[in-house]
Amino acid sequence: MDLQKLPLFILKPFIFFIFLTLPFLAFLSLQTPRNKTITITTENLPSDLKIRPGYSSYDQYLHRQLNKTLNPKLRQIWTTRDWTRKVNVFSHFFENLKQRQLLFNGSKSLCIGARVGQEVAALKRVGVHDSVGIDLVPYPPLVLKGDFHHQPFDDETFDFEFSNVFDHALYPWKFVGEIERTLKRGGVCVLHVLLSRRADKYSANDLYSVKPLEELFKNSELVEVRSIDGFGLDTEVVFRKNN
Ligand SMILES: C[S@@+](CC[C@H](N)C(=O)[O-])C[C@H]1O[C@@H](n2cnc3c(N)ncnc32)[C@H](O)[C@@H]1O
Ligand SMILES: *[C@@H]1O[C@H](CO)[C@@H](O)[C@H](O)[C@H]1NC(C)=O
Ligand SMILES: *[C@@H]1O[C@H](CO)[C@@H](O)[C@H](O)[C@H]1NC(C)=O
Repeated sequence: MDLQKLPLFILKPFIFFIFLTLPFLAFLSLQTPRNKTITITTENLPSDLKIRPGYSSYDQYLHRQLNKTLNPKLRQIWTTRDWTRKVNVFSHFFENLKQRQLLFNGSKSLCIGARVGQEVAALKRVGVHDSVGIDLVPYPPLVLKGDFHHQPFDDETFDFEFSNVFDHALYPWKFVGEIERTLKRGGVCVLHVLLSRRADKYSANDLYSVKPLEELFKNSELVEVRSIDGFGLDTEVVFRKNN
């Protein structure tokens, strides 16, 4: 629109109005408290983290997660044909973390969203014997029943927590909050995430950078970020809970 062509009787009051409100807006911006704590809700999540729309209730979300996890044919494959290959790959990741002094034989460890427990078996194989997994569906003795939005453990229980299912969290701030609650001070959390593209249709969120994780891990420091090739996931992120 060409301003020159606007009749002056419209333009004049408009400019006058802006002129009057400017000092008021400046005043308002100065009044905003500096250290205001931001409550994270779906509306003000960091922009590189998007909750997928379309879950009308928590039950619907659980139903979708369970649909795949309970599939008898898939469970058969996960516990037979897939088993050794996946335990081998997980063992390499955990050996690597041991070499970097982030995981020890004596670390009390939790795998979050462990399904049939291949990652738990891998931890035990590399010598981390006190390890267990949680999933919506239990698979005893390696995996206990538990929702990662409300972990069934006391505060400060674990030295080490691993998960490759961040994208399945409908409430990522609870997923991280529960990890920080159940980790001991100085405990280590390792996440395998996908940053380069959208994850699969069972995901509940999409993550586009490490930044949202840094914001969600309020009581931890970011220790390492590295590229990996882990069952379709491309990035390993390591946090250490503050002492
Ligand atoms: C992509 S699978 C990963 C399984 C396993 N970590 C692996 O790499 O083989 C995602 C798993 O997260 C589980 N899951 C989804 N939502 C969950 C929740 N709220 N609490 C606990 N587990 C959940 C699913 O049941 C499923 O077993
Ligand atoms: C659940 O999974 C089956 C295949 O195992 C599929 O046919 C069905 O449509 C799924 N139902 C829902 C509600 O996602
Ligand atoms: C840790 O456990 C592994 C496997 O059982 C063993 O080979 C290794 O010597 C142990 N390491 C230490 C430092 O005890």
